[in-house]
Amino acid sequence: MSNHFEKPDHARADWTIDQDWSRYTDEEHAVWDLLYKRQMEVLPGRAAPEFLDGLKALDLGRGGIPDFEVISDELEALTGWRVVAVPGLVPDDVFFDHLANRRFPAGQFIRKRNELDYLQEPDVFHDVFGHVPMLTNPVFADYMEAYGKGGLRSLNYAALKNLAALYWYTVEFGLIRTDEGLRIYGAGIVSSKTESIFALEDPSPNRIGFDLERLMRTDYRIDDFQQTYFVIDSYDQLFRATVDTDFAPIYERLQGKFAHGPEDVLDRDEVITRGTQAYAKAGGRF
Ligand code: PHE
Ligand code: FE
Repeated sequence: MSNHFEKPDHARADWTIDQDWSRYTDEEHAVWDLLYKRQMEVLPGRAAPEFLDGLKALDLGRGGIPDFEVISDELEALTGWRVVAVPGLVPDDVFFDHLANRRFPAGQFIRKRNELDYLQEPDVFHDVFGHVPMLTNPVFADYMEAYGKGGLRSLNYAALKNLAALYWYTVEFGLIRTDEGLRIYGAGIVSSKTESIFALEDPSPNRIGFDLERLMRTDYRIDDFQQTYFVIDSYDQLFRATVDTDFAPIYERLQGKFAHGPEDVLDRDEVITRGTQAYAKAGGRF
């Protein structure tokens, strides 16, 4: 989410472009297959069941980079969402408007084989493998639409940072409690082999129970593993806590500022794991 971009000439007014699926090379399809295979070595038993169900429902391992038209038809039949191609990051209002209309904007390009683990801008693997499976879950699908609508509304306030923190700590880096233990559902985690393990098993990060305003007040790392993960009990909890709450008073209180650092643990937090922060203290960056 950023406003510092110029719309490329080949993009439409809503920043969408053609996916041009037939122009992907064999090497690009092979990179998808490799990333898919690597993730499937770590995700069973770590990813949320709803994520794994979504992967299967859309058959994202059918081989090669998915054709957005094909998976959109399948996804639309399930929850009414479609996937549209964009050149990369898009301005906030454009992003929110797509979500509000149940369109997920996905990067068209794929990373190179020599940078499998880290990239600056979301590519088709992060966006489609990471985000799209959860959109098959009806409650999560509704949450994402509500987030887009809330985002459009938030443009009238100094709220972007706080609303972005909510997205970050749920949609990108969220954990969920299950009867079998903690599981990952955030797209930034499930699309990263190393963070899939780190987020659940490393003693370094905090794992703290979800609390809407606490999380909207908390700064986050954009270029390294998180120092804190927030844990929801259910997608219903997330939906109710956000959709049934008027954010305007929260925006007034927070004034677009963060009160807590990424590593802070507060007295009234529901602490599931108090992290050692050993990874971050050692300098981080994988
Ligand atoms: N309820 C929020 C508001 O009043 C909108 C919202 C819903 C934001 C769901 C995020 C997620 O603006
Ligand atoms: Fe993402």
